[in-house]
Amino acid sequence: MAKKTVRDLNVEGKTVLIRVDFNVPMKDSVITDNNRIIQALPTIQYVMERNGKVVLFSHLGRVKEETDKAGKSLSPVAKELEKLLKKKVKFVPFTRGVELETAIKAMHNGEVLMFENTRFEDINGKKESKNDPELGKYWASLGDVFVNDAFGTAHRAHASNCGIASNIAEVAAGFLLEKEIKFIGGAVDNPERPFVAILGGAKVGDKIGVIKNLLTKADKILIGGGMSYTFMKAQGLEIGSSICEMDKLDLATELLELGKGKLVLPVDFKVTKEFSNDAEIRSVKFDAFKPNEMGLDIGSRTLSLYKEILADAKTVVWNGPVGVFEFSNFALGTIGVCETLSKLTDATTIIGGGDSAAAAIQLGYADKFTHISTGGGASLEYLEGKELPGVACIDDL
Ligand code: 3PG
Repeated sequence: MAKKTVRDLNVEGKTVLIRVDFNVPMKDSVITDNNRIIQALPTIQYVMERNGKVVLFSHLGRVKEETDKAGKSLSPVAKELEKLLKKKVKFVPFTRGVELETAIKAMHNGEVLMFENTRFEDINGKKESKNDPELGKYWASLGDVFVNDAFGTAHRAHASNCGIASNIAEVAAGFLLEKEIKFIGGAVDNPERPFVAILGGAKVGDKIGVIKNLLTKADKILIGGGMSYTFMKAQGLEIGSSICEMDKLDLATELLELGKGKLVLPVDFKVTKEFSNDAEIRSVKFDAFKPNEMGLDIGSRTLSLYKEILADAKTVVWNGPVGVFEFSNFALGTIGVCETLSKLTDATTIIGGGDSAAAAIQLGYADKFTHISTGGGASLEYLEGKELPGVACIDDL
């Protein structure tokens, strides 16, 4: 990566502002998946070990008005980080002000401080999300150098990434952001071939940019999940009551035309009459849906076809589950993809963030891939070939 990284900074005795993405799922203030915190540890530890003063900040959820603040304090996240680091993390429950400034000034080398949810600044005029110039300047004034390690937020141009970056002496990437760019960027820009993409998820509309970009890069694109039915409907096939974007049929036709020879659609499905784990299941070929049936998973022939295509792949990018994996009876397709990819020991296997990353982790395959992205929207935009503002604002080498 031709960008400065934390390795290029002299952090000794400096106050190092580190933007992390600790937008972690929580239920009743309990973190249900701490992966994003774990993935940020190497950068934090690196700066601590080199006697920098670590000032961490992140957003958590979306905050528009005062009532949205409930349950969105980063305080439980600071506690979780403390547990993982086995070091004290001082939490300051403000996003600005004397208490925050005094606490930062009182820090010793190697200490860690975290302040409150940056989006609490959105209550009065979306200052964080609209990259208010005063806010970026103020946060920048709290430190000497800035490290952006929040890949998950890199598709946003907010005060806590781009705003700080334009008001501080040095801006570097953290190790997580560097890793994300290396794997996702490497796969898209310079893949070892054959390069196969697997794209699932409910909507074609969410993946138009990704499909179009990957059609110019990948050797094959395997389509699965809910979006398959829109492609099938566009070809005039019966899809019963399966999920379908009627307003995207022309687009699906266009993509099928563009992707001739590259786009591979499922050849069979598991169908049912109700959206329920317990409904009676029928395994059918792609052209044998009854009008009252909906597809909830790919079938075994499709999985065999995927396996055949993936057998000699050297680079695989997967984004989006291929069935309703939250229902155990319709998780076999997604499990099958995890299983198949886990056996491709000669290939670089990358999972885009969001639902497919959650599926892989939940199904027990977390350590079986070369890289699982921590970015949902960010990895999608990166796969679309877009420049990410949170990456662009890092100093060039
Ligand atoms: C994410 O979870 O995708 C990132 O943290 C960005 O969150 P946002 O979509 O609320 O900006």
